[in-house]
Amino acid sequence: MLPRLIAAPSFVALTLAAACAQAAPRDIGKFYAQNCAQCHGRNLTGGVGPSLMDDQWIHGSGDDALAKVIRDGVPDAMDGFRDELSEAEIRAMVVFIRERRAGFSSSENRATRPQPTETVPSELHAFKIETVADHLSTPWGLAFLPDGRLLFTEKSGELRIVERGGVLSDPIRGTPAVRDSGQGGLLDVAVHPHYAENGWIYLAYSDPATRDGEAVSLTTIVRGKIRDGAWVGQQTIWRAPLEFYRPGGGVHFGCRIVFDRDGYLFFSHGERGRQDDAQNVKLPNGKIHRLHDDGRIPEDNPFAKQPGAFPSIWCYGNRNPQGLAFEPGTGVLWETEHGPRGGDELNIIRRGANYGWPVITYGMNYNGTPITAITAKDGMEQPVTHWTPSIAVCGIDFYTGDAFPRWKGNLLVTALAQQELRRVVIEGGKVTHQEILLKDLGRVRDVQTGPDGAIYVALNQPDRIVRLVPAK
Ligand code: HEC
Repeated sequence: MLPRLIAAPSFVALTLAAACAQAAPRDIGKFYAQNCAQCHGRNLTGGVGPSLMDDQWIHGSGDDALAKVIRDGVPDAMDGFRDELSEAEIRAMVVFIRERRAGFSSSENRATRPQPTETVPSELHAFKIETVADHLSTPWGLAFLPDGRLLFTEKSGELRIVERGGVLSDPIRGTPAVRDSGQGGLLDVAVHPHYAENGWIYLAYSDPATRDGEAVSLTTIVRGKIRDGAWVGQQTIWRAPLEFYRPGGGVHFGCRIVFDRDGYLFFSHGERGRQDDAQNVKLPNGKIHRLHDDGRIPEDNPFAKQPGAFPSIWCYGNRNPQGLAFEPGTGVLWETEHGPRGGDELNIIRRGANYGWPVITYGMNYNGTPITAITAKDGMEQPVTHWTPSIAVCGIDFYTGDAFPRWKGNLLVTALAQQELRRVVIEGGKVTHQEILLKDLGRVRDVQTGPDGAIYVALNQPDRIVRLVPAK
């Protein structure tokens, strides 16, 4: 018996370590404080071990290089953590280090600066920021009518117009009731490509309903026309059966609406906080959908003939896509989607493809616990780029105007939490450069090129619409 007893301690230690790795999820930031800070410093700036904040990497700067040192350690310098940390936790530790390097803290409420009145310099064009409309209530979606008037939604349920002289209309009467709760409310607005002939305007919103006495909601798409300040002739374009609705309020509704050159309507639908739903093509949430402009299902949709599948689905595995834009010239559909904590994505959307959420992601949970160790898998799309730490990526638009000639064709990208408007240069389907044009002027929710070539931006907190115009 004795030899077995002697062997026991190391056996116990091993099982304990293995059990630890699978035990209750841990906040990786706390794990750092308890197990790494004594050598790398509380603020990651170094001590016995090197700083993890500077740009001097002994073992390489990539995610894989960091993960390898954390897992395997360095002989005579640092013990590896392969027995203490699961692979998913090692991935979370890499995200944590990236966040700290970017000066990011998930609980941080960024300060907002006053809007500059003077000229703002940038790499290629100096610009001024002009207020188009203010004292609004969470402006959400922007869309221009062919005559140059600007339609916009407010999350609380109002659809309004900025007339050509800059006058702000009253809310359009008779728009659908919405459930303005959590991230839901009145969401996007889009104008039919042949609006001049047919007058159709599309709205996306969280549809308020009741099921077994419980308040539930889901994103719905309708179209209607504006006549004498009123919303008339409404038709439902897409509405899921009640069984698919989720408890009211809550998170991840999507929702952007865009039309392609052939007039098909695409809209994005968040997974409503039920991450596994994104992989299930029998459920509408966590997907991008494609319809005819009147709501009919195109016969060549990828799942149209699959029994039980939601026939409007164009692609799946999307977490909370809030940006959609067709690239001029190529007709390629680009999408931005909110990752969890880390892993905000820019994707090229392809028919029938799986974007991987939550099987693969570059992010971790908000509470610092891991989601998964893997960032890539066969049969799942990789983002063109990802933002880790998260910027809370939102609406996008390709710049098509003439006012800023050197920005033509660039993708304008908005960000809520990090309060940014970015100019993203895309060449041959790749991101080659990024510049932050606006920073800390409020949460940036949507962007559109105006017919005048100015760049129109919906800002929240404070709630307003501004435009970027060239400085003289
Ligand atoms: C006993 C001290 C000690 C502890 C504890 C420790 N490290 Fe280290 N770490 C070091 C030293 C020393 C090095 C440099 C090794 C070398 O010179 O190659 C290092 C290197 C690294 C590197 C690579 C740095 C580079 O420049 O390439 C990373 C990343 C890292 N540690 C992360 C961690 C994390 C995360 C933890 C906790 C889970 C941790 N370390 C715990 C001492 C420590």
